[in-house]
Amino acid sequence: MTVYLNKGAMHPMNEEQKKNQLSTEKDYSQYFQTTYRPPDLKQAKKRGKENVEIHYDFDVPESMKGIGAGKKFLIRTYGCQMNEHDSENMAGILMNMGFQSTASVDNADVILINTCAIRENAENKVFGEIGHLKALKRENPGLIIGVCGCMSQEESVVNRILEKHQQIDLIFGTHNIHRLPQLIKQAVMSKEMVIEVWSKEGDIIENMPRARKGKIQGWVNIMYGCDKFCTYCIVPYTRGKERSRRPEDIIEEVRHLARNGYKEITLLGQNVNAYGKDLADIDYGLGELMDEIRKIDIPRVRFTTSHPRDFDDHLIEVLAKGENLVEHIHLPVQSGSNAILKLMARKYTRESYIELAHKIKTAIPHASFTTDIIVGFPNETEEQFEETLTLVKEMEFDSAFTYIYSPRDGTPAANMQDNVPHDVKRKRLARLNELVNSLSAAKNKACEGEVLEVLVEGESRKNPDVLSGRTRTNRLVNFKGPKEWIGRLVDVQITEAKTWSLNGEAAALAEVNK
Ligand code: SAH
Ligand code: SF4
Ligand code: F3S
Repeated sequence: MTVYLNKGAMHPMNEEQKKNQLSTEKDYSQYFQTTYRPPDLKQAKKRGKENVEIHYDFDVPESMKGIGAGKKFLIRTYGCQMNEHDSENMAGILMNMGFQSTASVDNADVILINTCAIRENAENKVFGEIGHLKALKRENPGLIIGVCGCMSQEESVVNRILEKHQQIDLIFGTHNIHRLPQLIKQAVMSKEMVIEVWSKEGDIIENMPRARKGKIQGWVNIMYGCDKFCTYCIVPYTRGKERSRRPEDIIEEVRHLARNGYKEITLLGQNVNAYGKDLADIDYGLGELMDEIRKIDIPRVRFTTSHPRDFDDHLIEVLAKGENLVEHIHLPVQSGSNAILKLMARKYTRESYIELAHKIKTAIPHASFTTDIIVGFPNETEEQFEETLTLVKEMEFDSAFTYIYSPRDGTPAANMQDNVPHDVKRKRLARLNELVNSLSAAKNKACEGEVLEVLVEGESRKNPDVLSGRTRTNRLVNFKGPKEWIGRLVDVQITEAKTWSLNGEAAALAEVNK
């Protein structure tokens, strides 16, 4: 029995709407309006925690298991780790339907484009890709092309696809990935575009089949959604409200990965520090979860992404125990100016961020710190931007992801008048990057002569004779060694620092010889 169909939906589909979904008529507006709402802050903030349900009985229906026999699929993924991980779930579902994966668009029968809406350039890339697929569809009319992920949750995107990209067969959102078997079936049968986007926040579906990309590192979702509503950000609308998985389900998944030889896991969530807040029956947070996972026999545990506001003392205490909890903290700061932080609704100050970072550094002295920064927020002044530069200098970040602010439709910041010319924003980004790069280079230089533990991920992209892997602090290291070391932990003596990577020589093979 499957109980997941639209259960607990804010806008459950009635029979009429279900029929419309399968109808061959061109007008989708009726279906669309009843199941979808565009981003609306007031509406979204009202959302409660009450109607999230967890389902343990996911299965691909028997009648759909053979649909993919002899056929191939390809998934193109844009965006963050969450999307990468969703693609692993979709691949797992498709393989359960009999499909095989392919790396080439030319022999694919199903192509899914898993999209990201975080910035305009991410969206432009996707529309470029959709455009390219038009010719392919003309050559191979039986090809099914689907668009999913965060952009599908935006009404403007769906409308644009409906108007201009009739080569697309299927659009579905982030809350109904588990409906892929039914959606693919409908897309195969229907001559018209199949659209299923739910504005409701989505239940938690456990036990989805999963085709993980590698055998060394695995992603583990600990929560979905985000309730922070930073004023610039689209994620709380595309991913819905915060929903935490049960600790026992997460721990079982990590144990399973450990048993299967995985060496590193990354716990995933948009704001992992809020983990557990919505679990009504237990007082359990990220600190408690990490303390449990610490005891599992897996060499490395990472987590991303943290919000400074919810980073509590208990978590710091647990992280300070070290062992498999690696000393790398990714702590997005976004800006060094209190005025801008306030406009962003980040709800912390420059001072409280620095204080938190000091507290973490005191507890975990060798922790590396990385961050995310946005430049050119509406009306950011030169002085405010310089406050970001001084914060970066003071924090001495090991590295940073830096972005030019991109207005997202429906978010509060998109309505703010902006008097900063784009050219000024570009120059600010370049100045910031110069500083960030010089700090990264200096931090890397300090590693020269040290012996660092490297988890070997594979051959170096530039030179197949060289192995490539990462340190506990997430630094990229290239060194020579036999291919059998891929997937193993090797101690490497660092001989030369580059801006973004380190070169070294294998020093000890302690773990390898075990
Ligand atoms: N949940 C994570 C990050 C999600 S998005 C967190 O809060 O840290 C990753 C990064 O993209 C953000 O940290 C932010 O720096 C950047 N970002 C988000 N929205 C943006 C926008 N509208 N324009 C530019 N950068 C943005
Ligand atoms: Fe977006 Fe992260 Fe803020 Fe959530 S915490 S709204 S995902 S930037
Ligand atoms: Fe992009 Fe969605 Fe992730 S907007 S960054 S793919 S949560």
